[in-house]
Parts: sequence; structure tokens; C-alpha cells
Amino acid sequence: MGTAKLQYDGKEYDLPTVVGTEDEVGIDISKFRQQSGLITLDSGYGNTGSCQSDITFINGEKGILRYRGYPIEQIARRGSFSEVCYLLIYGELPSRQQLDEFNEGLTYHSMLHEDMKKLFEGYPPTAHPMAILSSMVTSLATYYPHSHQEDRIDLNILRLLSKAPTIAALSYKKSIGQPFIYPRNDLTYTENFLHMMFAVPAEPYKLNPVVERALNLLLILHADHEQNCSTSTVRMVGSSHANLYVSIAAGISALWGPLHGGANQKVIEMLKMIHEDGDNYQKYVDLAKDKSSGFRLMGFGHRVYKNFDPRAKILKQAADDVLEDLGVDDPLLEIALNLEQVALKDEFFVKRRLYPNVDFYSGIIYSAMGIPTKMFTVMFALGRLPGWIAQWKEMREDPKTRINRPRQIYTGPTEREYQPIEDR
Ligand code: ACO
Repeated sequence: MGTAKLQYDGKEYDLPTVVGTEDEVGIDISKFRQQSGLITLDSGYGNTGSCQSDITFINGEKGILRYRGYPIEQIARRGSFSEVCYLLIYGELPSRQQLDEFNEGLTYHSMLHEDMKKLFEGYPPTAHPMAILSSMVTSLATYYPHSHQEDRIDLNILRLLSKAPTIAALSYKKSIGQPFIYPRNDLTYTENFLHMMFAVPAEPYKLNPVVERALNLLLILHADHEQNCSTSTVRMVGSSHANLYVSIAAGISALWGPLHGGANQKVIEMLKMIHEDGDNYQKYVDLAKDKSSGFRLMGFGHRVYKNFDPRAKILKQAADDVLEDLGVDDPLLEIALNLEQVALKDEFFVKRRLYPNVDFYSGIIYSAMGIPTKMFTVMFALGRLPGWIAQWKEMREDPKTRINRPRQIYTGPTEREYQPIEDR
């Protein structure tokens, strides 16, 4: 362990360093304020590590993403989503028996309490499914009020993982005015979700294996991404010892924003806009370069990835394959490919190292699968669920965890005297 030295106002401070298993070095400033009275300032946390974690490793320069050490490319090619859930949450790939038991648990807990159906009735048909998902996940804490008990954590993890797809599918059925479809115990996790989304009581629903495989891949690629905005929110809320459900509900809200998971919906809206405007993608590249326009190329850029996003690379190939397998000819794919080509050669994007992120191609695949645009961010949330849970669990089990409480540099008025209203 080395030491970093920091000088300020004629004094020198020794700060210990922490080295991760991939040789990343961090300067531990946790005692720095105590020693010096100074704090560090890092708006947007671009240079601040908030925890030590065993779950996910990212190297943004090299485009590396690994879950518990396993490269995303290998997991995406061969894994199942429920296996990835187990890996992220419990740290190791499950044995056949462990996976069977885990899958059984996921199946067994997929029904919602009947009373919860009444909650759906209270929303307007136009309600965004992310708002419904977040509030319904919070509501689970009212149906399972012992959720804060330590010995119930594994049970609540299963409940949350298995009920979230049911909630998501019901919110979609509500928005299109179709009857709710109950989960079926003979189906896998991903098959069950598609069944609840697309089956109707009037006729049997035939599952398409291409769609099921694409869903499995998309969920796996979204499963964890270390300390991003929504995951840090989950940890922040959970650090006060708030229960699993409400901590995850907060993460869902954070994910909704268009700079984070909400970008997948915005990408499709942007591609449609470009299509309706005569496929003039150069115009939109120029618009994105003009800061005064307020327009950004959605699905482009990433805080961590500066050469390529490995998930986007996999999804670009998958978009081609899935559309071909399903016989879908989507003009938006052509626009996305052209937009990427133009932007990747443009000095503005090259200089700022802006590349397509995971959201750039995911929406095109979701559309081909028949998932409506408004549900895209919900799909992201379903994928990210095991990551949030794993991070929440790791944080709660770490004896070093303290309630998250950043500092600030105050820039408001200095002390002044209160004026009664009649004197103002
Ligand atoms: N289009 C045009 N310009 C962009 C874009 C973009 N998509 N993204 C960043 N820039 C520019 C900024 O204007 C800035 O330029 P400047 O240095 O001249 O001021 C520079 O690139 C750096 O951008 P920041 O916003 O400082 O980068 P930050 O790391 O804070 O933001 C983010 C990353 C939010 C992803 C950003 O690139 C963005 O808004 N992208 C579009 C939204 C999006 O796709 N979000 C999904 C991210 S992936 C995920 O959350 C799953």
C-alpha cells in the first residue's frame, strides 16, 4: 500500500492508497477532513469512488465489462438471465441444483397479491410504466412488511426478482386496456414475461424462440454496471437501512431520466424524428454539435466508456440478426447505422470520445420484438434488477458501510439579519 502526499497552506498530508484486484489505485481521503479541515469537491462524482465492490469490473479505456470476473461477451453468448442473477447476487455461477432451486423460487413467487390489481386500476391509461413500476415496487414493502429482517433478505430478493416482470407486464396491459394475464409456472423467467405481455385470453399465445433469446441477451447485457446513477441511488437509499423494495424503487426512478436508462426511449424517438424529416442524419449530427441547440445524439457518449461500449458492440450485431430472423425490415436500423458512421468520423465526436452506448441499438431490437417504446426503460429496469440487488446486498453486508452523507462547499449568503415581513 503506497501513500499519496497532498500539500496545502504549508502543511503536508499523507493519504493512504487502496489497490483493487485489477490494480486500480484510489486515494483514501476518508480521514482527510479530520486531519486538515478540508473536503474534496467532485461535482458529478467523475473522480470519486464511493465503495469497494467485488461485483462488476469496467475498464472504460479498453471497453472491458466483467460480472464477477466473467467477460460480458462470454456470458452474453452462453448464459441465461436467471444464472446471471444468481452470479451477481451470490458471487459464483450456480451448480445445476442451485440453479434449479433458484428458478423454482423465481417461478413460485411470480404472482402478485390480488389486492395489488386494484392499485393498477387507479392509474390513468396514459401513465408511464416506469412510474407504475417504481410505485408498485414500493408497494411491495406494504405487502411484505417484514422486509427489513435480515433472515428474510433472500426471500425478498426472490420475491422482487419474480414479481417485477409481473408488475411490468400488468402496467403494459393496463395502458392498452387488455385483461391482466397471470404468470404460468411451466414457463421460464423470460418466457413468462413475454407470455404476460402478449398473451390474451381469447387465443393461445405462441412463444417465438428468437424473441425469447433476444430478451435473454438484452437482460443479461443490462444486468449490472457498477456505480452508475441508479445503482448509486440504490446504495445511497439503502445506506440508511431502508428496506430492499424502497431502495430499488428509488433506483428505478433514477434510471428513468433521459441521461440514463430513459435514453433508450429517446433514441427511438430521435430516429423516428430523423426518419420523418427525410432521413437527413447529417442535419442531426450538426445539431448535436451546436451547443446552443440543446440537442444531443441520444444513445451516444458515456461517462466511463471512452473507446467503445462492449454492450453496444454485441447489440449492434444482435440487432442485425434479430431483425433478419424475425423478417423485420426497420428503416430506423439503417438510420442508426448511418448516424453512427457519420458521427464516428466527425471531429466533434472523435475529440470528445463519444461512441454509441448500450441504448443506441437496444430500442431497435425491442421494437422488432413487439415491445412498445414506452416500455423500453422498464425493460432496462428488469435487466438491471439483479445488479441493484447485488449492490444493495453487498453494501448491507459490508461492516464498513456508513450512512451515505456527502459534504458541500456552501456558496450562499453569509449571516444576515431576519427582516419581519412588514419591513421588507
Ligand atoms: N451528443 C452531443 N454531444 C455530447 C453527447 C451527445 N450524446 N454526450 C456528450 N456530449 C458532449 C458534451 O456536450 C460535452 O462537450 P464539451 O466538453 O464541449 O462541453 C462533452 O461531450 C462531455 O459531455 P458530458 O455531458 O460532460 O459527459 P458526461 O460524462 O457528464 O455525460 C452522458 C455522459 C450523460 C451519457 C452524455 O454523454 C449524454 O448525455 N449522452 C446522451 C444520453 C444517453 O445516451 N444516455 C445513456 C447513457 S448509458 C446509460 O445510462 C445506460
